[in-house]
Amino acid sequence: MTSEHSWPDYYGVTVDRPPWHTVTEAIALFAAEDSAARPAEPRLAVDLGCGAGRDARELLRSGWLVLAIDTEHDAIDALRAATPSEDLPRLDTLVADIGSFILPPCDLINASVSFQFLDAAAYARTLEQIAAALKPGGRFCGLLYGDRDEAASDPAYTCPSPDAIRGWLADFEIESWNEREEDGTMALGDPHHIHLVEVVARRR
Ligand SMILES: C[S@@+](CC[C@H](N)C(=O)[O-])C[C@H]1O[C@@H](n2cnc3c(N)ncnc32)[C@H](O)[C@@H]1O
Repeated sequence: MTSEHSWPDYYGVTVDRPPWHTVTEAIALFAAEDSAARPAEPRLAVDLGCGAGRDARELLRSGWLVLAIDTEHDAIDALRAATPSEDLPRLDTLVADIGSFILPPCDLINASVSFQFLDAAAYARTLEQIAAALKPGGRFCGLLYGDRDEAASDPAYTCPSPDAIRGWLADFEIESWNEREEDGTMALGDPHHIHLVEVVARRR
């Protein structure tokens, strides 16, 4: 266990942090397409393991409908408390396990540093579900722990290789891909060897 499991502390530290670059990139890619043919209806994004909602709130700010899911009531409470009142009507929240949740049809699925908590079977099932739920032209974006992350030696975590992640994304066009490996610190200050795959991918 690391202090990342002190979820209320984690949410307190991250609630005011900016969105991850992967979600802002995905939003920009949709916006670039909109200039050619703007959709009549707002699009739906699902944020898997939303935490205090740094990504969900950016999606709302950009006009999206958002379904934000987390196992922790504290996460959903923090997200709702930090969401501007004008954006709340477009926010739906759910306390649920993403490993056993049936995803609705949607345009964007975001998962920022949350999938490592799934066991291997739930991880694979969730990736299958993502491919099934995304409409053609929809996108997946997120930050996924890689197999050289320090957490990979802990059986409580699932940290696939970048090659395995690419394999799962065979039905996607990879629009942005970055592997980050460094000795850094976690949100609550613990030193940690980080290996992250940062990806934005478009469903074919
Ligand atoms: C490291 S935090 C990241 C939160 C947020 N995405 C961010 O980037 O700030 C991981 C989040 O995933 C949630 N989580 C872990 N396992 C989950 C599961 N099986 N289903 C839903 N949420 C889960 C945790 O409660 C936590 O809020």
